[in-house]
Amino acid sequence: MAGRYPQAWLDELRNRADIVQVVSAYVPLKKNGSRYWGLCPFHGEKTASFSVNPSMQLFYCFGCKAGGSVIQFIMDIERLEYHEAVKFLADQVHLQLPQLEYDPNWEKKRSQKERLLAANREAARYYHQTLFTEAGRPALDYLKGRGLSDSVIRRFGLGAAPDQWDALTQHLKGQGYTEEELSLAGLTIIREAEPATEDSPARPRRVFDMFRGRAIFPIIDVSGNVLAFGGRILGQGQPKYLNTSDTPVFNKREGVYAANLLHKERQLERVILVEGYMDVVSLTQFGVRGVCATLGTALTVEQARLLKRFAPKVFLAYDGDSAGQHAILRGLDILQAAGVPARVLDFPDGLDPDEFIRRDGPEGFAKLPDISPETYRMRRLREQYDMTSQEDRMEYARACARVLKGLDPVAIETHLAELSVQTGFSREVLLQQIGQSQPLQTVQQQPPRRPRPAPAPAAAAETVRAQELIISLIAAKQLPVDAAEEKDFDDPLLKSIYAALSEGAQVADIVERQATADDRARVSQVLTQELPQSVDESLLMARQCLKALRRQRMEKELQQIMARLNTAPREEQGRLMAEAAQLTASLNKLKNSR
Ligand code: GTP
Ligand code: MN
Repeated sequence: MAGRYPQAWLDELRNRADIVQVVSAYVPLKKNGSRYWGLCPFHGEKTASFSVNPSMQLFYCFGCKAGGSVIQFIMDIERLEYHEAVKFLADQVHLQLPQLEYDPNWEKKRSQKERLLAANREAARYYHQTLFTEAGRPALDYLKGRGLSDSVIRRFGLGAAPDQWDALTQHLKGQGYTEEELSLAGLTIIREAEPATEDSPARPRRVFDMFRGRAIFPIIDVSGNVLAFGGRILGQGQPKYLNTSDTPVFNKREGVYAANLLHKERQLERVILVEGYMDVVSLTQFGVRGVCATLGTALTVEQARLLKRFAPKVFLAYDGDSAGQHAILRGLDILQAAGVPARVLDFPDGLDPDEFIRRDGPEGFAKLPDISPETYRMRRLREQYDMTSQEDRMEYARACARVLKGLDPVAIETHLAELSVQTGFSREVLLQQIGQSQPLQTVQQQPPRRPRPAPAPAAAAETVRAQELIISLIAAKQLPVDAAEEKDFDDPLLKSIYAALSEGAQVADIVERQATADDRARVSQVLTQELPQSVDESLLMARQCLKALRRQRMEKELQQIMARLNTAPREEQGRLMAEAAQLTASLNKLKNSR
């Protein structure tokens, strides 16, 4: 960002643009306790789980976990970028926009995530610009050769990684990013030096670009953050696509490709989920709305929930080959588990969506019937059985009965006639079979859990909860900031909030400073939780939380000292023993205190 608004001006804006008033213009709100409640405008719902906290000036939806300050609300509901939203609000309350100021100190203090996002944004710009230079010519020719227009190339911000070792790395280092940051962002690969061995000579340290000689698809989230990249080889070769691995700002199991464009679509009846980036770009070029793709992995429950925010239904439009068909069955399971109504587009002749729309045009695509999950499942089953064999027909009938089990009578009725003809069993027998069947086991396999940086100890959830309570008590001014210390917090996000609070930062401002939508939502959730009305009760709660946190911390330290004692050299042992004795004394004092 080139600069920021002066703090005093932002405070004034938030003062005048009261969040309850601003939100009320879009959502009818009712007061209940210390908060206001309404139906969430960001996901369809019938009971109010959208809350506005006037004292914190924050909103948070317990259903879809959207949350943030008044500026975030305007960004989300009006689909604006940060600066546009600030201008929109300033206009409403007749506040003149100030000069942006450049604060080198603030720039330096920006969190690591923000720096990584800024590096990604600059990389996307660099790749996109390169596409129209000599170094990007092969990539541009490739994309044009696949039929993409200039306008769709710009819309998706496609780019070119030049066929050079470290062009991007040098460019970004010139902008002040360190090699370590670039490596963390997944833009740069650092290969450490290796000493000579019997078989190979010594290798010097080398630093080079992750993406070289590829066409680049930037992966952008709903807030416009560039999270990662997919890079396609120009022509034949392996790997065909190279994708950014998970980084501090990117988790490929959580986002979807083209979320930024989906977010801008209004009144979508369905989202079309495809497998490949090229399919998204190509369908969009042919005028199909609401297309997105997973990020090189199978659909996850997290992604299914995200899709629910964009439209009430999801159409699976996977490749017509056997891998795609398998993925559809799994995808249907996942969507069902996430409670998302689904339909299937079944592409003929093993084509993928891109190939199909090029062959049959948008008219052909529009005519493609969307079929129900059970129709699709039965179609796949039919191929597994030899319908000339009596035994197979029985097995087929049983398998179909399991698919139909639990559906509403009308849906069952529509399949019965056909099933009866196929298998030779009467409708009565088939109905009876359906009645006796076990319902289909959905999500046969839980998807592998997201790897965590460290295995969470049993008590971790409670300590985090205690830290969250302390933070919200301080934010609500029910507890003085110096009642806690920075070392009481071991959760990185909560630690940084504490640091900001102790510097006197405004709550809404802290929320806005968070680089990712996830973090903004989490901070909003923590800060808007219901707290005791009485100060006495709050203080008691705080004291218990702090006591638990400090006790845990000391016990952990003690454990570490004891572990070190076993292996420490003699001269260190005396010091460690003294430390342990002191810790034990403090612990006892803490345990005995009220
Ligand atoms: P095109 O050949 O460019 O039309 O690709 P496609 O859009 O038909 O994609 P394909 O069905 O081959 O792959 C679907 C998605 O899987 C891609 O968008 C990538 O995200 C991912 N993918 C494909 N090939 C590779 C690969 O070699 N490595 C990795 N990591 N991911 C891949
Ligand atoms: Mn393809």
